Amino acid sequence: MPKGWHASGWRKMPRIQMPEYPDAGSLEVVEGKLGGYPPLVFAGELRRLQQQLADACEGRAFLLQGGDCAESFGEFGPDNIRDTFRVLLQMAVVLTFAAKQPVIKVGRIAGQFAKPRSAPTESRDGIQLPIYRGDIINDNSFTPEARCPNPERMLQAYSQSAATLNLLRAFSKGGYADIHRVHSWTLGFTDKSEAGKYRHLAERITDALDFMAAARMHGDQFESLKTVDFYTSHECLLLEYEEALCRIDSTSGLPVAGSGHLLWIGDRTRQPDGAHVEFLRGVQNPLGIKCGPSLEVSDLLRLLDVLNPGNEPGRITLITRFGAGKTKSGLLPLIRAVKGDGRKVVWCCDPMHGNTVKSANGYKTRRFESVLAEVREFFEVHAAEGTHPGGVHFEMTGADVTECTGGVSAVSDESLSDRYHTVCDPRLNSSQALELAFLVAEELSKSRVPTESGLHGSGELAAQF
Ligand code: PEP
Ligand code: CO
Repeated sequence: MPKGWHASGWRKMPRIQMPEYPDAGSLEVVEGKLGGYPPLVFAGELRRLQQQLADACEGRAFLLQGGDCAESFGEFGPDNIRDTFRVLLQMAVVLTFAAKQPVIKVGRIAGQFAKPRSAPTESRDGIQLPIYRGDIINDNSFTPEARCPNPERMLQAYSQSAATLNLLRAFSKGGYADIHRVHSWTLGFTDKSEAGKYRHLAERITDALDFMAAARMHGDQFESLKTVDFYTSHECLLLEYEEALCRIDSTSGLPVAGSGHLLWIGDRTRQPDGAHVEFLRGVQNPLGIKCGPSLEVSDLLRLLDVLNPGNEPGRITLITRFGAGKTKSGLLPLIRAVKGDGRKVVWCCDPMHGNTVKSANGYKTRRFESVLAEVREFFEVHAAEGTHPGGVHFEMTGADVTECTGGVSAVSDESLSDRYHTVCDPRLNSSQALELAFLVAEELSKSRVPTESGLHGSGELAAQF
């Protein structure tokens, strides 16, 4: 255990972006209940994820992380979970084929409820109320009762996360994730005339799968195509909830956050002396750090000292989010400092949070072209610096929403109002997300050295999906 660390030690440190609960008594009752509940994830899973991320550090694997900006109680249901899982798997097949490497599949799901906000209050028609901070904290309706932080909501978030994870575990191991089936959905997408430009790559994947069938791959090799490892992640923001789900791993005797596999620190709460860093330094989970334009190189190095003093590969993923046109200048100093200091990190590109704009008709949106532009800049900078572009991070959903513009699905400013459902940031819809995977695949195949197997990717698909 790190020196002087305790699960409640964060309470002595400056905290921001967290609610003040008006009723300390009911908060304590909820914390007590959660403290007795089973953790949602287990230490062995965290170790496995960390090993896979250690491979991504060295350019031997690629991270795909995606899901809602904020999960909500209102949108909870099996179809939404299935659809998001499905499109993530489709993306993963395309990326695995292009990278010729394992793709580590991580959802922003089963715990992604609490949101950092740019202002503590919101005013409408002269009335000022506390800001909405995510369904685990308060409700989005504009009334004083709804906006009052209510600790009972943590119990609902826990049970929603447990039910979500239960379904994800069933999908991952129960046959739903079979690569042939996943790929057949992708063929359905590329059959649509607008997406025809991606058909060629999809057909190459079909060939690889046919080759495997003809070569009569069987036994373990074939079984590995029917199941996947799927991990959960969320922003570690609501520390009362995180502390209550912290457990000691009986194998190592060390603390783990039981709320999800990978936890990240947001761009607004990564102060090296703040409460969030204090909590996370003590848990064994793989960690993400959001890196935006305000991050100083010296602070990043300090964060790495505090959160990963042993420089263990796979412990830290740096999720960079600078915005299209600003990625090179933002990323270069960080890459040079991290590389110069020999720090082991996974570099992951979040092309969403630096590219939020307001449409002429007043919607918070993101342009497909800007998202793609940031991804391409990310790959370019890493190619120039000789470092590994280790992953991508998207806000996306499996549903057919109209929240981001562009892509072959051709969402325009005018059509944003058709199905704009997000309670927080705009998400890529399933078509935009899959299209982006095809475009990231182009970048990846340039950046990864082909293997010598001569199987055109089929061996890698078999061994690594
Ligand atoms: C997010 O990922 O939803 C988020 C709020 O990101 P950031 O902390 O990078 O702004
Ligand atoms: Co967001």
